[in-house]
Amino acid sequence: MENCNEKLLGCEVVESNDNFSSKPKARRSRNSTVTGALILSLTFNVIFILRIYSYSHDESVAKSKYGTANPQYTIALADTISAGLINNVDVPYVWDTDRSNPNDTERNKLWYEDEESNEGIMAMDNEEAEMLGLQRSQPWPWDKKKSIHITNGHHNLHCLRNIYISINEYSTGVPQSLERSHVLHCLGALYDDIKCNADDTPRFTNRGVKPGEGQIRKCRDWSQLRKWVKERDGCFKYIKHDVQNISTIERMKYCSNDSKYLPLIREFFGLKDTWFPWPYVEQEGYLIKGEEFRGRDFE
Ligand SMILES: *[C@@H]1O[C@H](CO)[C@@H](O)[C@H](O)[C@H]1NC(C)=O
Ligand SMILES: *[C@@H]1O[C@H](CO)[C@@H](O)[C@H](O)[C@H]1NC(C)=O
Ligand SMILES: *[C@@H]1O[C@H](CO)[C@@H](O)[C@H](O)[C@H]1NC(C)=O
Repeated sequence: MENCNEKLLGCEVVESNDNFSSKPKARRSRNSTVTGALILSLTFNVIFILRIYSYSHDESVAKSKYGTANPQYTIALADTISAGLINNVDVPYVWDTDRSNPNDTERNKLWYEDEESNEGIMAMDNEEAEMLGLQRSQPWPWDKKKSIHITNGHHNLHCLRNIYISINEYSTGVPQSLERSHVLHCLGALYDDIKCNADDTPRFTNRGVKPGEGQIRKCRDWSQLRKWVKERDGCFKYIKHDVQNISTIERMKYCSNDSKYLPLIREFFGLKDTWFPWPYVEQEGYLIKGEEFRGRDFE
């Protein structure tokens, strides 16, 4: 892969394995299963279209097609998921927020210590991804039945944080810790996202008042998104963001302390049983890109 602008996950992670490619073979040998599935799928499609039709008549504006608002999905997996977000939360516009606080210490703390910008990486069951109509994605190293996806919302946060870091380094005379191409990628991505959302909420204007200040708009519930992601924890922490040659797998060992994947992770990295991901302790050494494949088999 040549175009490696997306540095949150890097470009190298893990070679695609047989998770998806082996499926067609399995399918060919089970024609009756396929027919059954096809009928089931047609049934879902009909219900899906009917549901879409009824949704278009209800009051909330935008719905994501993922998670519970995806009718096909809801029927299949009932209450096991919680995203599928709709614009149903009242939130006022605020002109000056904590993130534009003129106090450098307080503002930097919010931007630099923003764990949420790490959170969007999910280890999603391949079956779930397939059901959601998602494109084939690279396998998650600790469970080959899962693949790595990142929510667009979290990717945006990550990008904004990168731009903040770059601006802050510029204005304090510190050398840039991120590659320029990465920062430019982020600007372009956010620009496109704004265009994509084409937010048509008219903000009121008034003499002496900042446009829209305090005006209520409808938002999606970010906490629900976080919950949905957490349930598919990709165990990602963006450690050593200034190190270009670090293997992404180093950033993918931050499962919760009670994760069933810890033994596998410890074994892969040669860590002791007393090693826990949290609280995070700054590590010295790290695998560099490509090294995760050398003499190791983590499948
Ligand atoms: C900025 O915030 C820090 C931490 O709250 C505080 O100690 C400091 O006095 C503030 N600086 C100014 C200039 O207000
Ligand atoms: C990886 O990058 C760091 C600087 O970020 C450098 O000090 C180190 O020598 C590099 N390691 C290799 C093996 O290229
Ligand atoms: C993780 O486990 C370690 C070791 O048992 C413990 O000291 C630490 O408090 C735990 N951290 C969290 C966030 O659970």
